[in-house]
Amino acid sequence: MRIPLDDRSRVLVLTGAGISAESGVPTFRDANGLWEGHDVTRVASPEGFEDDPTLVWRFYAGRRAAMAGVRPNAGHAALVALEARLGDRFLLATQNVDGLHRDAGSTRMVEMHGNLMTTRCATCDRAPFRDTTAHATVPVCTSCHGGLLRPDIVWFGESLDPAVLDRLEQFVTTAGRDLVFVAVGTSGVVYPAAGLVEVTRRVGGTSYLVNLEPPANVASFDHVVLGPSATQLPTLFA
Ligand code: APR
Repeated sequence: MRIPLDDRSRVLVLTGAGISAESGVPTFRDANGLWEGHDVTRVASPEGFEDDPTLVWRFYAGRRAAMAGVRPNAGHAALVALEARLGDRFLLATQNVDGLHRDAGSTRMVEMHGNLMTTRCATCDRAPFRDTTAHATVPVCTSCHGGLLRPDIVWFGESLDPAVLDRLEQFVTTAGRDLVFVAVGTSGVVYPAAGLVEVTRRVGGTSYLVNLEPPANVASFDHVVLGPSATQLPTLFA
């Protein structure tokens, strides 16, 4: 399949863990996924961090260490090429925290759930900073001298950055019927990302899904392409 685009089309691409699977990054909910064997409320929620920050850091230290040598794949590259073609008529919204879209060269992009290699203070408002350390113990803030540092990731029960939501809303509203929404490698169970397909329908746009298997919200899409994204994306936008 090819996605037909004309000079009015505005393309919003939503990516999830599936797009990084072929780079060797584990997904969350598949067999052998990251959440298998982990209680998500213990390692990815503010309450879990309050209860046991060491366990949380151990989990994220493992994820940071696992990124060594991981490179973007042909799926990421296809989105860079599409952005080069469309300019400001393109926006990428990723739920991934692995930073591979940025590594590949995407720039018109929002990281909805934060970034694995960014740390912030759980207490004070110092700016989040780049931090690739796989911490063995819980790091303490050097600005407020006492606050615990935490990964700058949007955990379960936390809100997305309002600036991110504004940017998405503005893109969708401007596009209207010219919106082409493409969801890639996501199971469609985590909101607000999972709701973008319904938003697309409301504004009169067209939706596509590229996924290895049919996810929970498959029936909401106008067009479905089943297969690995590193193979499918380069031909979809060719
Ligand atoms: N190509 C395309 N899709 C793939 C591939 C692949 N090579 N490999 C796996 N998939 C699909 C799976 O079939 C699954 O539907 O990608 C999807 C991954 O789903 P999840 O593991 O649930 O990941 P995601 O949707 O990104 O999770 C959303 O939930 O855990 C939280 O905050 C976390 O950002 C994450 C959010």
